Amino acid sequence: MNEDSFDFLETLELLDESQWLYKDPVTEVLLKGHLDSFPSQWLDALQDLTNNELNDLVVNKFIKSSWPIELVQFVKKCDKLNKLNKFIPVEIPSLPNHFKQGLSLKKQHEIFYLAKLTHEKCLETGINTIVDLGAGLGYICQILNYLYGYRILGFESNKKNQITAEERQKKLYPESLNDVKYICSTITDESSDDIESILDNFLNKKDEKICIIGLHSCGDLSVNACKLFSKLPRAKLLIIVSCCYHKIEFDNDSNKYKNFPISNTLSAAIKNYPNDVYKFLNRSFLRLACQEPADRWENMSADQHQEHAFCVLARAVLEFYTRQNGINLKKQVRKATRKSQCLDFDTYLVDSLQRYSFNNVNQSTDSQLTNSIKKIWQDNKSKLNTAEIYTGLQLLLQAPCESLVLNDRRSWLIEQGYNSQIIPISNSKISPRCHAIVAIK
Ligand SMILES: C[S@@+](CC[C@H](N)C(=O)[O-])C[C@H]1O[C@@H](n2cnc3c(N)ncnc32)[C@H](O)[C@@H]1O
Repeated sequence: MNEDSFDFLETLELLDESQWLYKDPVTEVLLKGHLDSFPSQWLDALQDLTNNELNDLVVNKFIKSSWPIELVQFVKKCDKLNKLNKFIPVEIPSLPNHFKQGLSLKKQHEIFYLAKLTHEKCLETGINTIVDLGAGLGYICQILNYLYGYRILGFESNKKNQITAEERQKKLYPESLNDVKYICSTITDESSDDIESILDNFLNKKDEKICIIGLHSCGDLSVNACKLFSKLPRAKLLIIVSCCYHKIEFDNDSNKYKNFPISNTLSAAIKNYPNDVYKFLNRSFLRLACQEPADRWENMSADQHQEHAFCVLARAVLEFYTRQNGINLKKQVRKATRKSQCLDFDTYLVDSLQRYSFNNVNQSTDSQLTNSIKKIWQDNKSKLNTAEIYTGLQLLLQAPCESLVLNDRRSWLIEQGYNSQIIPISNSKISPRCHAIVAIK
């Protein structure tokens, strides 16, 4: 194994051993009894940690020599199998006001750094034209044109987004109208001919090289971008920042994900692995891979931990009750937990009864329902600290999970004969999905 290659086998072993921490959604921790699955010595070691020590364990992989050897090894393996380098910031120049209009600081941060990396790599490769897959409202297209003068085609599947991108362009960046074009199209791995013919009309020279980029290309789009990079002869550079790994398509016929694993290297490691990996390389694994990284626990206060533990456990109580009683719990509104709910369980429950629909139950009058749920809370509320430790250990696994997903894609590109790297492009505390896969043909 060369120094730069990813150890898929060791990562599979770590994920297999620790699947009790993530293979079910966190809402099911009570239902599946995962808070009772702790190796008893682990809990003894972890439940007396101070707030700072708990943060330090998750963020800096702090260990104590008195801990059981299996726990120490778990933490060390999580550290070792995190192959995602940290980002080194440079100063962001102040962007003109019309660029900041409607853009959060997070989005400004992301587009500035991705544009900077794209420009550096395009300069090295002599590229002047860029194809952006999943262009959204065109933020990255416009900044690449404004700061560095690139010509850009932005492909976007959502018609509304494409129209908004064009309206923003006309209003805020009219000088870019000839050089930045938005096309409404759903990109798949079969889109190479369509992209080629649009490029034929757009390019100044027939043999011009292009760069494919994508910022937060969700689900299958990132993998399809890699495949299109391979298929399009003109594409010489790929810079893709993936997100929403859990949205990749599952093929019910083969009982496998369509685009995971994609590399021969990971497929071979899976084939040779003695256990059924798909029991733990499941949707929850992909969800954990795209959660916020461990850094978010840096300086987390005791109050914030209490609130977080409360939200995790209270939601798990609702899940426990409804699933045990064959009730279907459905969100009425997108964000189901508000800060004000986390004061005490009675307040949480009143609020939840309004914010979720409990199929077939008359919620406002059914005091039996509320009493039953409150009883489950009473029986389990002593597990608040355990729930927080559980999510902390889960966070330790986030980086190895994301390392595995991104290295599968990188390995695929290497197998096709391209030089490929994973490069940190932004601050993970500001923008959690912050690693670009870069490939050169
Ligand atoms: C998370 S957003 C990112 C948007 C933009 N790149 C940004 O960073 O501001 C992903 C975008 O990709 C678009 N998208 C998703 N799948 C796509 C596909 N197969 N083809 C084209 N666009 C797609 C979505 O409509 C959405 O606008």
